[in-house]
Amino acid sequence: MHLTEDLPFLILRRTWQPVANSADLPPGRLLGYTLLDTPLLLARFADGRLLAADPACPHKGAKLTAGCIRNGELVCAYHGWRFDAAGACQSIPSLVDAHPDKLALSHLHTYAIQERYGLIWVKLDPAPLADGQPHELPAVPEFEDPNWSYVMGPPTPFAAGWRREVENYLDMTHFAFAHADTLGKAADYRVPPMDIRTLPDGGFQMDAPFPALDTPHEPPGKLQSAHHRRQRCHLPNFTTIRQSFADGDERVLVHIPSPNTRESCTVFWSLAISPGFRGPPPAAQMEFAIKVLDEDRRMCENQVPAEVPINPARGGWGVLVMPGDTLANTFQKQLRRWLLAEAAPQGPAGDGR
Ligand code: FES
Ligand SMILES: [Fe+2]
Repeated sequence: MHLTEDLPFLILRRTWQPVANSADLPPGRLLGYTLLDTPLLLARFADGRLLAADPACPHKGAKLTAGCIRNGELVCAYHGWRFDAAGACQSIPSLVDAHPDKLALSHLHTYAIQERYGLIWVKLDPAPLADGQPHELPAVPEFEDPNWSYVMGPPTPFAAGWRREVENYLDMTHFAFAHADTLGKAADYRVPPMDIRTLPDGGFQMDAPFPALDTPHEPPGKLQSAHHRRQRCHLPNFTTIRQSFADGDERVLVHIPSPNTRESCTVFWSLAISPGFRGPPPAAQMEFAIKVLDEDRRMCENQVPAEVPINPARGGWGVLVMPGDTLANTFQKQLRRWLLAEAAPQGPAGDGR
C-alpha cells in the first residue's frame, strides 16, 4: 500500500497528543491550540474540569478563546451564549425561553481530554487503533514517582515537521556540531556502538555508551560525564532518553513533538531526575536543556523540506549513512510499518467527527 502524506495526521488523530503544560491552564483560563491542523479551545473550569472543543461558537462562529469562564460557565464574548464544562449550551440570552432543541443544536463539538505527566492531552478521534484498543499513554513511572524531581520544559514551537524533531532527538552524530556551544563542546563525532532493537509494540529502543566529553578548557560537568544512554521511541512520537551515570544517578527526558500543521510542531518536554542527584540542581539542568533544545530547533528549522517525506522513494529520507543514521532509518521504517498497520483494517476514514 502506498502511503500518502495526509495519512499520518489521520492516524495520529486516534492518539493522545499534548496540547499544553498543565501549569499554563489554571482554573478559569482558556487557551487556543492547533493540533493536527485542527483548531482547539482548551478550558479549565473553576472546579478543575477540562474541556477541549472546536473554538468556533455554534451561533455565529466567534472564537470562544476570546470569551471567558464566569460563574462556572464558558461565555462567548459576542452574544453571551453560555456553555457548561461538557460543552452543552445552557443559555441563549436573546431568547427569554430557549427551546431545548435550539440548546441541543448548539452543543459544542468536543474532544477527549485528559491530564497526565504535567501535560494536558487531547485525542481528536475516539476510534481504536488497529489492535482494537484505544490508544493509551506510555507508562513512565519516574514521571509519577514523588521521590524523583520532575521539571517541565517550556513548550517549544518548531517551524519544522514533527518527524524532523523525532529524528533530531534520536540523532547520535550531531552533538559535536549542532551542540558545539553546549552539550558537545568536545564531543566525539564518531558514532558509539549502538544496540538497536525493535519492540513488540512496534516501537524501538537503542542502548549505547555515551563517552565523557573532555575539554582542555573546563572539566566535564556531571551532565557531560560518561553514562549509559537508552533512547526509547513509543510510536508515533513519544520519545524518551534514560541516562544512567556511573554513580547510580539517572535522568529520564521525554520529548513529544505535537504536530500543529504538517510543517510545524510544538515540542512538549520534561525532565525527571533521580533522588539525591549529584550534579547541577534541577533549575540549572533545565536552563542547560533549554539552550540545547534551542540549538536543535535551529537545525530542524533549517532543513529542507520542512518535514521528512513519508516515502523513501527518490531519496525522500536523504542520504542516510550507517551506522550514524541507523536510528533515523529505524524510526522511519517502523513508523511506516505502524502507519500501514493502522491504515489497513479500518482505513483512514474513521474520523469520528
Ligand atoms: S457568536 Fe457566540 S454568542 Fe454569538
Ligand atoms: Fe540535539
